[in-house]
Amino acid sequence: MKDNAKNRIIELRKKIREYDYSYYVLAESKISDFEYDKLYKELEKLEQEYPEFITPESPTQRVGSDLTKEFNSVEHKTPMLSLANSYEESELIEFDKRIKNLLKLEEDIEYITELKIDGVSISILYENGKLKRAATRGDGTTGEEVTTNIKTIKSLPLEIFSTEIIPSSFEVRGEVFMEVEEFVRFNNQRIEQGLKPFANPRNLTAGTLKLQDPKEVAKRPLDIFTYYLLSDEQTFESQYSNLDQLSKYGFKVNKNFKLCKNITEVLEYCKYWDKERNNLPYETDGVVVKVNKIEYQARLGNVAKSPRWAIAFKFAAQRTKTKLKSITWQVGRTGAVTPVAELEPVFLAGSTISRATLHNKDEIKRKDIRVGDTVIIEKGGDVIPKIISVDLDERDKNSV
Ligand code: IVH
Repeated sequence: MKDNAKNRIIELRKKIREYDYSYYVLAESKISDFEYDKLYKELEKLEQEYPEFITPESPTQRVGSDLTKEFNSVEHKTPMLSLANSYEESELIEFDKRIKNLLKLEEDIEYITELKIDGVSISILYENGKLKRAATRGDGTTGEEVTTNIKTIKSLPLEIFSTEIIPSSFEVRGEVFMEVEEFVRFNNQRIEQGLKPFANPRNLTAGTLKLQDPKEVAKRPLDIFTYYLLSDEQTFESQYSNLDQLSKYGFKVNKNFKLCKNITEVLEYCKYWDKERNNLPYETDGVVVKVNKIEYQARLGNVAKSPRWAIAFKFAAQRTKTKLKSITWQVGRTGAVTPVAELEPVFLAGSTISRATLHNKDEIKRKDIRVGDTVIIEKGGDVIPKIISVDLDERDKNSV
């Protein structure tokens, strides 16, 4: 009886794991919600009857029951670096020249371009194929342990199954994020409850990772794109083969990366995604350009806190003009009153905008914003747009 239960538990876990992988990583649904729930409930019931068979890698253990008392500090074995930023095409061309100079090469350098996901960077340690610990970047040297919260991410494997030999210890790095649609849904709920909404998906992600109640975390669907696998036991020839290995181990890798033969192709990729990014379900704030060959990366090395072999190309915030219809006052839960700009609805960066924050009275004065003005609005990292300035050429004599 007990053996039967154990075998069934193993079988159910395998099935659930495979369905989770197709649904959350590959975005292919292979079974109805009803069928899935049935398997899940059967597993839960068996594990209740035979708690001795519960393992931390069971899909039922994604949501812990205990509150996190404190977030322990974790020292990163390899520091988590950041990237130098660039905003202009010319800076990318300079970057390419610098690389060629340092490598003493004249031929084209192959780059891999990845979307820069606007989320929170994370390091996840696997030992003997099992998720052991997850930590935030912190100051790059020391971060905070957020393992219980990270385990709620359904696209992240709790255990690796592979036909290949898995390194006994490896680290995966990636970006935790929340889809814009989930962010909006969650924020709307908060507004209904009279709570302050989050400014953007990144803030909500960061706030969620800091929650002490894993049940609450599980209600806020976090997701992850992984972009790097590090292990003393495994070397890679290129960043491309590193991403490939991550995919083979069952990690979610953003599919919009590209191998570029030269810097011209990098520029084309950046231009393409600057336009297309609004059609993505998640937020990206730029492109990460990496020298593909690891041998070159090693030769180039790091300066201070960022590698010489990579650069971030940041997209410019998107702006447009519209008319300010009126200014209303919004009373927050704390009683604070903030002015809100009611705008002629205008489409910008993937959504229709009809309101913008004005922060406070002083800002209205400083920017000399008047009802009836044509204003320039900007959508940056925040989903709630800002008024940048007034187009004075279009000001009506009677503006107030
Ligand atoms: S590579 C040393 N790739 O952007 C290389 N970073 O400052 C560093 N990010 O904190 C990271 N998407 O969290 C890399 N495809 C991607 C990324 C990415 C987002 C974040 C990362 C880092 C910051 C760069």
